[in-house]
Amino acid sequence: MNWERSHFCGDLRQEHIGNQVVLFGWCQTRRDHGGVIFVDLRDYTGVSQVVFKKEISIEAHQLGDSIRSEYVLAVRGQVEHRLEGNVNPKLPTGEVEVLVDQLEILNPSETPPFLLEEREQVDEKIRLTHRFLELRHPDLQHNMMQRSRAMQLVRNYFTEEKFFEVETPILTKSTPEGARDYLVPSRVSPGQFYALPQSPQIFKQLLMISGYDRYMQIARCFRDEDLRGNRQPEFTQIDLELSFITPEEVYRLVEGLMVKLFGELLEIEVPIPFPRMTYQEAMEQYGSDAPDTRFELKLVDLSDIASECGLRVFSEVVKTGGLVKAIRVPGGADLSRKALDDLTEFAAIYGAKGMAWIKRNEEGWQSPIAKFFSEEHQAALEKRTSMEVGDLVLFCADKPRVVHDTLGNLRKEIARQRGLIPENEFRFVWVTDFPLFEYSEAEKRFVSSHHPFTMPNLEDLEAYGQDQPERIRSRAYDITLNGVEIGGGSIRIHRGDIQDQVFKLLKLEEDEIESKFGFLMKALSYGAPPHGGIALGFDRIMMFLLNTESIRDVIAFPKTQRASCLMTEAPSNVSEDQLEELQLRIRASAAKQN
Ligand code: AMO
Ligand code: AMP
Repeated sequence: MNWERSHFCGDLRQEHIGNQVVLFGWCQTRRDHGGVIFVDLRDYTGVSQVVFKKEISIEAHQLGDSIRSEYVLAVRGQVEHRLEGNVNPKLPTGEVEVLVDQLEILNPSETPPFLLEEREQVDEKIRLTHRFLELRHPDLQHNMMQRSRAMQLVRNYFTEEKFFEVETPILTKSTPEGARDYLVPSRVSPGQFYALPQSPQIFKQLLMISGYDRYMQIARCFRDEDLRGNRQPEFTQIDLELSFITPEEVYRLVEGLMVKLFGELLEIEVPIPFPRMTYQEAMEQYGSDAPDTRFELKLVDLSDIASECGLRVFSEVVKTGGLVKAIRVPGGADLSRKALDDLTEFAAIYGAKGMAWIKRNEEGWQSPIAKFFSEEHQAALEKRTSMEVGDLVLFCADKPRVVHDTLGNLRKEIARQRGLIPENEFRFVWVTDFPLFEYSEAEKRFVSSHHPFTMPNLEDLEAYGQDQPERIRSRAYDITLNGVEIGGGSIRIHRGDIQDQVFKLLKLEEDEIESKFGFLMKALSYGAPPHGGIALGFDRIMMFLLNTESIRDVIAFPKTQRASCLMTEAPSNVSEDQLEELQLRIRASAAKQN
């Protein structure tokens, strides 16, 4: 076959009527209407209807009869107006069709395991195993093209802002971002391993020390962690680092980028500057460090009132340093007993031991805990929660972490159930002043909330360093959108003595600091400029720009919750020879697990 393509399938319009055209593509559907064969021919730009009629070409018609779904075709013919009644106003090419006089079947196809147009109903396992087919779906092709466009916008934006892109290594040493590393064994140095980067964090800081001032990279990161809805084991960051800056410069740049991305891709005007909230405010009011501000249902602290009431679970919790907090659900008194029981079960997922409630009726309180509150306390509670007739108030009493986690998730669940979340709203919030450390129950020590290179608030470090590390705030910030963390960054430590102090608070021993971060400590001693930056989760941003709930819809070849690729069957066994070369042996127990 030596035909030249004249048009793409998505290109044909009325103005082409009368033209001879050559199209290439896949058969999306084939219909036979009384001897006339209609094929929807698809390429990545769209679909054109091509028609086989005996009176145009007997050979083409005969061959056309053997076409099945996903056959690869070359057709030649004349563009015609569709017959009255056959016009499809939903398709850009819907006014016209091609009367085929020559057909070549370039490659037949096995019967596909699913029809592309039924994608939504097909089990994801089947789709991911045949991802090369699923990717033919126009929705996914659209997603991939928009992703490519977004990447281009990002690069152009930062180039205009005087950044330049540097590629950092993939075979490297552990960069602590709080997840497990993916390890790669070395053949040349048997028994030793590279780690895949959890982020380019240390390298971008080293680039600042090298005087590169404004670095950016669209960087692939690898994290072996529990995979939830919007996480993948390998994902992409828009990674930035700048010297001689304050957080304000980072905020300005990221806000400008969001204006550009949402403006160009969604034609939505994003208002800037984005509101800011401290970590503490976010936790107190929203029960989360990623506050969804599209709806109210804020948390209200009732600890003082509850401590004086007759309900022991409440007063005891307050006495032992816990909190009693509540959310008011406007009009929520209509919830059935069953609905309340279901919400109580939902709350239990987050560790809540119960979920007391009050319905405010015309007559007063309807509540299992009403009798424990004096009239005076009832009035105080009504005032504090702004309770009105018809409302429901839900309580959680526990350690602060449990209370915030429970009510933070409960407010989202209730908003979802009651349709309180407005569609097509994009609420960005900067969350600032994160604590430097959080206590890890599992490791029985403090761990970095962000990463160990984040600059502490120096006054806090001085005041609480030794005894109350949990009170030290950091110069870290997150950017959140509709309750999702889409990026995080910080001003970094550029002084060796402070870095050393932070490592010590993290209980790193001298030799561990040397073996893990010796090169960084050395670099810090050779004129490290003050610097800071941020990394944005590119996949998560694409989820918003493409209005999808699944991160797998924005990645060409995604992995499953078990971090496997069903199509290539990675991870997989390797040959004995490869293991031998690496001087590795698989334990019998591991071999059995697969
Ligand atoms: P952080 O760990 O907060 O910061 O990551 C930055 C952003 O990357 C996205 N993200 C993910 N997206 C998909 N799948 C994952 N498994 C995943 N993990 C993280 C999130 C997150 O906000 N080096 C620092 C940045 C810095 O300090 O400059 C870092 O990696 O949207
Ligand atoms: P009890 O005295 O255990 O029957 O609890 C009385 C009410 O308080 C019930 O509605 C429980 O669901 C609720 N409750 C119990 N423990 C808690 C708690 N930790 N936080 C909020 N409500 C609770």
